[in-house]
Amino acid sequence: MKRLLITSALPYANGHIHLGHLVEYTQTDIFARYWRMTGRRAIYLCADDTHGTAIMIRARQEGRSEVDVIADMNAAHQRDFAAFQIRVDHYGSTNSPANRALCHEIWASLRERGRVTTKDVTQLFDPKEGMFLADRFVKGTCPKCAAPDQYGDSCDKCGSTYAATDLVEPRSALTGVRPEVRSAQHLMVAIEPERPFLATWTQAEGRMPKEIANYLAGHFLSEPLRDWDVSRPAPYFGFEIPDAPGNYWYVWFDAPIGYIATSKEWCDREGESFDDWWRSEETEIVHVIGKDIVYFHTLFWPAMLRSAGFTLPSRVQVHGFLTVNGEKMSKSKGTFVLASTYLKHLDPAYLRYYYASKLSSKVDDIDLNLEELVNKVNAELVNKVVNLASRSSRFVAGVGLSPVYPDDGGLFAAAAAEGDAIGAAYAAFDFARATRLIIALADRANEYVDRMQPWALAKQPDKKAEVQAVCTVALNLFRQIVLYLAPVLPKLADDVARLLGCPMDRWAHAKTPLVGTPVSAYEHLMKRVEPAAVERMVAESRPAEEAATAGAAAPSGAAGVEDDGAALAKEPLAPECTIDDFSKIDLRVARILTAEHVPEAKKLLKLTVSLGGEARRTVFAGIKAHYKPEDLVGRLVIVCANLAPRKMKFGLSEGMVLAAGDDTVHVLSPDSGAKPGMRVH
Ligand code: MSP
Ligand code: ZN
Repeated sequence: MKRLLITSALPYANGHIHLGHLVEYTQTDIFARYWRMTGRRAIYLCADDTHGTAIMIRARQEGRSEVDVIADMNAAHQRDFAAFQIRVDHYGSTNSPANRALCHEIWASLRERGRVTTKDVTQLFDPKEGMFLADRFVKGTCPKCAAPDQYGDSCDKCGSTYAATDLVEPRSALTGVRPEVRSAQHLMVAIEPERPFLATWTQAEGRMPKEIANYLAGHFLSEPLRDWDVSRPAPYFGFEIPDAPGNYWYVWFDAPIGYIATSKEWCDREGESFDDWWRSEETEIVHVIGKDIVYFHTLFWPAMLRSAGFTLPSRVQVHGFLTVNGEKMSKSKGTFVLASTYLKHLDPAYLRYYYASKLSSKVDDIDLNLEELVNKVNAELVNKVVNLASRSSRFVAGVGLSPVYPDDGGLFAAAAAEGDAIGAAYAAFDFARATRLIIALADRANEYVDRMQPWALAKQPDKKAEVQAVCTVALNLFRQIVLYLAPVLPKLADDVARLLGCPMDRWAHAKTPLVGTPVSAYEHLMKRVEPAAVERMVAESRPAEEAATAGAAAPSGAAGVEDDGAALAKEPLAPECTIDDFSKIDLRVARILTAEHVPEAKKLLKLTVSLGGEARRTVFAGIKAHYKPEDLVGRLVIVCANLAPRKMKFGLSEGMVLAAGDDTVHVLSPDSGAKPGMRVH
């Protein structure tokens, strides 16, 4: 099979990774992991997209150099990707020597072919700042509907698009001054000579989603293509154009070249031949992108590659946009969630699985319904998949699997045969189908365990061999399922590799059962999603004013990354206490039976808790801003049971529920298996 080079779009260095971005990076990672598992030579490359006006302005505002700003952001992006188990083979930057050299090379070839022309471009100019203003940096009144305060390219109110020079009463968003109309010479690249080629290339079977190919054919390729404006006058953060001093390549010129530059750095590091990856019929290049950046990747980019003699992508995979609970991500609703905020509250595996279950090869937008995420992960991953192992592995821990694979009525063989269909779904970017097929296998495996009831057999001393046989089947079916899920859930696969003492990194492993090997003690593989944790994530994602009333910490705009030591540093440790002091406090496991609002109280919820048996206590807890009452009912908590009762305005409080936190509140719970009334030592 041909080598495979896979890329995601290069995220802009002027913002942090959010859940919308993660659709794409998760999608690409799953695809890359699948192919690596099959043994195919496959690499996944990405980089930060660093140039342009936005970074320059941000650096000025922060009083730092652009290079400082982009270095910090590069580190933050890589941290977020690593935490979400997005495994790139190399992560680069478009502001690299390799990228500069490749820009020069491609430029020279465009010049050589006579593709570069010039044109006078009229733009708004901020005389105070001494720079031309990109559309996003001009605001004014819409020329169509007179709505005030609209950006220089389109109107939010009436949806019309226009040139910034058409705005009524324009102002510079940087300085507030009225911009002047000025003209400057720009460099343009002619795309029209490539139109006959593009008309065929874009329409090739499997090159890109059908709807995109049709759109390009109908709207662009049926008439002459306009020249592409690729230069910006100084000041601009980017690479200066060698034969046009004072002019810089527009960020979208050097950004895709970053794909090649990142490959070059990877090749140099790994001792690979660069031409094998970018000038070879034996390599397939697959770009994964969002629907907002299609023209750059399907018209301009192939035209540039062709001019300089590089391999063209064999596929441009386009995904839709993320909505949350059916709407555009919204800061005020708390649904514009940064990757780093998500990680404080939830396991990345949940989101990876949820996205996988929603992603097909279509361009449709995908909706993250937070309630559905909770239900899906709990019902499918926890109850159906992980439960298989937790129900069977403990009966063979220390004993191991049967030396010969038992008769399972054909279950293992059927699931092994299903591997091809599941693999084909991954290869076609139809992850929704892949996960559906896998969960159907889990259903069959659970039926088997329900029927055989290893827990009942284990109580009969003469059924030892049967218990081992049943668990050998159950664990082998489980292992197949986890192997098939490994592209989506690599961490689960690693944990299962430890549990069963077997490698989990090859697709073909699913064909042969594991026999005669030891089984380790079962350790928790995945926790249920707590709806309250989702609520806390949303609360933390709301802007400061609203978060303040909810009592949550305001996200620190700059980084959104919090030091783990911060909580401890804020709150100094209390003076030392002896073991005798400590044992005076009677801490008990309790179950929350009822929880209700105290309408007159700002902070309090009224809880009734059971300490085991008949004992009931009423406790008023200051957690109203952090928990919905209904989410607390049924939950196990830790209560200080011998706290002197306190008479409060709303009634008698007969204990205290333990929680951690500073501005946020996290109620403490024992892990599963604890019973109300147990003493906490
Ligand atoms: N820097 C350009 C890409 C240059 S590629 C040579 C860019 N950066 S971006 O940070 O805005 O977006 C990176 C990718 O994330 C894009 O493919 C974009 O479509 C995708 N997404 C950004 N927000 C998204 C959603 N809300 N939903 C889904 N994907 C989104 O574009
Ligand atoms: Zn308007």
